[in-house]
Amino acid sequence: MSSTTCSSNIVLPEIMTGQASPSPLQFAFTQKTAAHAKHGQRKTLTGDEAHRELRKHLDTPATSLRPRAIYIHVPFCRVRCSFCNFFQYASSQQMMDDYFKLLEQELIAKSQYAWSQAKPFDAVYVGGGTPTDLTAEQLLRLGKLIRRYFSLTTLCEITLEGRLNRFTDDKFQAALDGGFNRFSFGVQSFNSTVRKAAKRLDKREYILERLHQLTDSGSATIAIDLIYGLPHQTPENWQQDLQDVVSSGVHGVDLYQLLTFGGSGLQRNIDAGRANVPLSTSDKALMYQQGHQFFKEKAFSQLSYCHWASHPREQSRYNSLAKQGAEILPIGAGAGGNINGYGLMQARNIDSWRTGIEHNHWSFEQLSLPAANAELTAAITSACDRGVIKASAFTNGQTLFKQCQPLFEAWKRNGLVSTADDQVKLSLAGQFWSVNLANAMSSYIQQYTSI
Ligand SMILES: C[S@@+](CC[C@H](N)C(=O)[O-])C[C@H]1O[C@@H](n2cnc3c(N)ncnc32)[C@H](O)[C@@H]1O
Ligand code: SF4
Repeated sequence: MSSTTCSSNIVLPEIMTGQASPSPLQFAFTQKTAAHAKHGQRKTLTGDEAHRELRKHLDTPATSLRPRAIYIHVPFCRVRCSFCNFFQYASSQQMMDDYFKLLEQELIAKSQYAWSQAKPFDAVYVGGGTPTDLTAEQLLRLGKLIRRYFSLTTLCEITLEGRLNRFTDDKFQAALDGGFNRFSFGVQSFNSTVRKAAKRLDKREYILERLHQLTDSGSATIAIDLIYGLPHQTPENWQQDLQDVVSSGVHGVDLYQLLTFGGSGLQRNIDAGRANVPLSTSDKALMYQQGHQFFKEKAFSQLSYCHWASHPREQSRYNSLAKQGAEILPIGAGAGGNINGYGLMQARNIDSWRTGIEHNHWSFEQLSLPAANAELTAAITSACDRGVIKASAFTNGQTLFKQCQPLFEAWKRNGLVSTADDQVKLSLAGQFWSVNLANAMSSYIQQYTSI
């Protein structure tokens, strides 16, 4: 990629502007710059200094007006899916039981800080891994502990993530009794051939039937994840997947572009010539377009560039808060959080995490200091995620918009946005490249403006 000259004679690199192409959807950029928008370089603290600093904040009632959420991590899966980089530990009942006891201890300890007690939480997300592999008793207890020890807002969304495999009626009921009100299941694809190649455990018929049962109960919001770009996916079977979303009755769906990671089973198989190379980014762009148009025709509402809802009960509150830079209290090995703008990632290794809990000394790898422009970056990420950048969403929005004009003009010329009255609307192509645009705008502001 090279560079492009704008009306104000600033020469911007194409990594920011995208390149001119008859099909910006497929070719404006060569690939997604990252899975999520980046939050810039931040200074870090380690060791005792980091612990003292964090403790200072936890012992002080929160003053931030930002919304807040809790993230609880359960790092076990029964099988490692070919495409996934989130796998940490193979499920064993003994390991999960031991883990759960510590998790309870950690949850209670973390609820006691002045920071935790200062304000109610707007969302709780129990993610993984596969938290639906916890037993019915554990799900009930976890839900009850969350509600007993933390103050939650009236509309608080409490999500349990996982998979449909072995998520029996007694587990569903126990989770509901515990207070979970939203379930997010990774389906990835309904197609049985695609599923088998990805090492997913059940066939299409079972997935559809189970989703019907759960949605028909009317007891909670049911959302699913689909991935586009997996081996054996075609425009035809992708169309059937989209149709299956509608017939399953789910309230929300995420469409994720397949990202291949070194170390995943899929990448190893590709390297060894055992799996078809997944679709190119330009082919995946067409699948995104197919999904986008399909849900528009079906009158789903679009909550973000990759999330659609068929029913108003689906809000996807946690994901949207995380992108707005909300405060996040992390619980569990490998959970990531954000306390008063300080970013931290808890130890991923269960033994290190356990030692931390046993000694009442949080075990995290490092503490990142608040980024100078954290609020601005979060506002950009959130705006690009929703597909519209409004001047009113920023402090000094008018000045910001004026200074960003060369970038916005270049995006417009390249088919990524339209502009009107203090707002920039991402085209379908712009939405596909939303993460690139968010990262480009943050870098542009840093390099070319006085903000
Ligand atoms: C942390 S996983 C947990 C999902 C759950 N354990 C399951 O088995 O479906 C959350 C979501 O990340 C997405 N994901 C995982 N690997 C991905 C990849 N390589 N590219 C894109 N999305 C991916 C999947 O859609 C998945 O549902
Ligand atoms: S997709 Fe879910 S079950 Fe499969 S490896 Fe990733 S986290 Fe585990």
